[in-house]
Amino acid sequence: MAMANDTQPLIDRLAALESRDTLRFAMCGSVDDGKSTLLGRLLAEAGMVPDDRLAQMIRDSKIHGTQGGKPDYSLLLDGLEAEREQGITIDVAWRYFGTDKRAFIVADCPGHAQYTRNMASGTSSAELGVVLVDAQAGVMTQTRRHTAILAMFGVQHVLFAVNKLDLIDYDHARYSAIEHECSKLAHDLGIASADAIPVSAINADNLVAHSPNTPWYTGKCLLEFLETVQVERKVDAAFALPVQWVNRPDHGFRGYVGTIAGGRVAPGNEIVVMPGGQRSRVARVIGGSGDLAVAEAGQAVTLTFADQLDVARGDVIADPANPPEVAAQFACHLLWLDDAPLLPGRRYQMKLATHTAGAQVTEIKHRIDADTQARLAATRLSANEIGYCNLSLDTDIAYRPYRQDRRLGGFILVDRESNATVACGTLEFGLRRDRNVHWQQLDVDRAARAKIKGQTPRCLWFTGLSGAGKSTIANLVERRLLSEGFHTILLDGDNVRHGLNRDLGFTDADRVENIRRVAEVAKLMMDAGLVVLVSFISPFRAERRMARDLIGENGFMEVFVDAPLSVCEDRDVKGLYAQARSGKIANFTGIGSPYEPPEMPEIHVHSDQEAAAESAARIVNQITA
Ligand code: ADX
Repeated sequence: MAMANDTQPLIDRLAALESRDTLRFAMCGSVDDGKSTLLGRLLAEAGMVPDDRLAQMIRDSKIHGTQGGKPDYSLLLDGLEAEREQGITIDVAWRYFGTDKRAFIVADCPGHAQYTRNMASGTSSAELGVVLVDAQAGVMTQTRRHTAILAMFGVQHVLFAVNKLDLIDYDHARYSAIEHECSKLAHDLGIASADAIPVSAINADNLVAHSPNTPWYTGKCLLEFLETVQVERKVDAAFALPVQWVNRPDHGFRGYVGTIAGGRVAPGNEIVVMPGGQRSRVARVIGGSGDLAVAEAGQAVTLTFADQLDVARGDVIADPANPPEVAAQFACHLLWLDDAPLLPGRRYQMKLATHTAGAQVTEIKHRIDADTQARLAATRLSANEIGYCNLSLDTDIAYRPYRQDRRLGGFILVDRESNATVACGTLEFGLRRDRNVHWQQLDVDRAARAKIKGQTPRCLWFTGLSGAGKSTIANLVERRLLSEGFHTILLDGDNVRHGLNRDLGFTDADRVENIRRVAEVAKLMMDAGLVVLVSFISPFRAERRMARDLIGENGFMEVFVDAPLSVCEDRDVKGLYAQARSGKIANFTGIGSPYEPPEMPEIHVHSDQEAAAESAARIVNQITA
């Protein structure tokens, strides 16, 4: 998936260096499940830790171990080669070790709920998921959540390591009950193969040798399981290369640079560039040390074509016999990571392979309950929740459904203000909807309509607290403009909420939709050639930015009508602040709901220091100047 962008090449390189068969697995467990101890003990028992390192660990355990002075095997992980990689703001530790049968790459996924993001990152390239279950606690919400995330990211093999068996006195019946619950969980989530092993990291039970404590267990020990588990490796036969950048050092050379996501490529191959669909033939395949006869998945190369094509970053160069699909709207699964909830209608940035596009979740179809896997109705997604959603992008992109191709079907959503990764997701399929609705070309356009009115269409966007004076000032501005012969319209929050937006309340989600609609209306009114005044609290930066992007930097003027909350509250023209303070109105802006002031408004009005008429005159001057 997309998070693998940064981590994948390194792992691929390491895997390529390994002549042994390599298994990538993700270790998932809550903090107290003893994940590090299990891994450390496994390494020690399998003879993968040198004697001096073991002795060191035993000495260190007495000083800063967590086992009351007894050997703390988790300390051994500190000595393992670890690659802490900063993916797109996602942190995951990859650890490498090996036996003479197999090499292992482990994504060590911390188990706190807030670390779900690391887990998703580690999971996206794993072939096996090892889920730790505390035998005393049994299958917990966290276990279900981890397994659900493994399933969502297409991990088809899960091993439940039921740990701390000593604490349940190696009780066969208790273990069987947990095993049964695990296998039902995996089955419900559609995971193809699930196994369980009873272990105790502290006593090394069933790690590398069968434990006399569990005579009833006849299956494989953990190490043997890891060495022998068969995972199907999908050798993606179809060639695809997401373009990272176009290298044009001079007029004569145009190279397309990227890492091959699947298949192989050689000079002479026919190619197609998606989403555009242009075709050509590969002229050269250039690797780090010169021209190559062939290159394959995982290699970073530069391609040149026989023809001059218009190719940009994010395009996918592919085999014309099996090209990626193209769409701008999708059904997808989303794992929400941010503390602030997902709000449908808010604009985020989507990163898929090398492509970045503006994105909006247009609908949450349902949310998946972590405990029961039930599909529940939802209007928002909170941190760690998985939802099934419709996603709409600004542009067409080339993609493949995630279950066919992790790299062209996995994506992340990034907050445009903070640049934080707020979600990761998997594309299920493209929605045909946008294909059936075409843009109708009309002969009379915005310019023609504006010309007959002799004016330049604009949008004056008034934002500020309730009672700050937005409507008063906007009203004066409109009167002045009208008297000077301008054609105008004033869209006022209170009024629009009586009609078009009658169905919306004041939750964050409703406010996002409120602003989305009014921004679209403002744009239509500008198309009609008008000067549009919008007077809405519009408390969130993200939506004001959305309006600015939609309308265009040139025509957009943000007017911040600024007055301290205490002043607005004293004025309390509508008596709403008093009601909000007494708890009669929930989510009132400035009291139960935030107001994010503009950082760089075009016009900043201090309504507590300047008369409304003066502010209005200043604004009109800016427009007519
Ligand atoms: S916005 O936040 O979604 O942009 P909008 O400007 O449309 O708000 O509507 C704000 C008006 O609704 C306020 O001027 C006030 O009269 C009224 N109102 C009623 N409830 C609330 C509330 N909880 N928060 C803010 N304004 C409210």
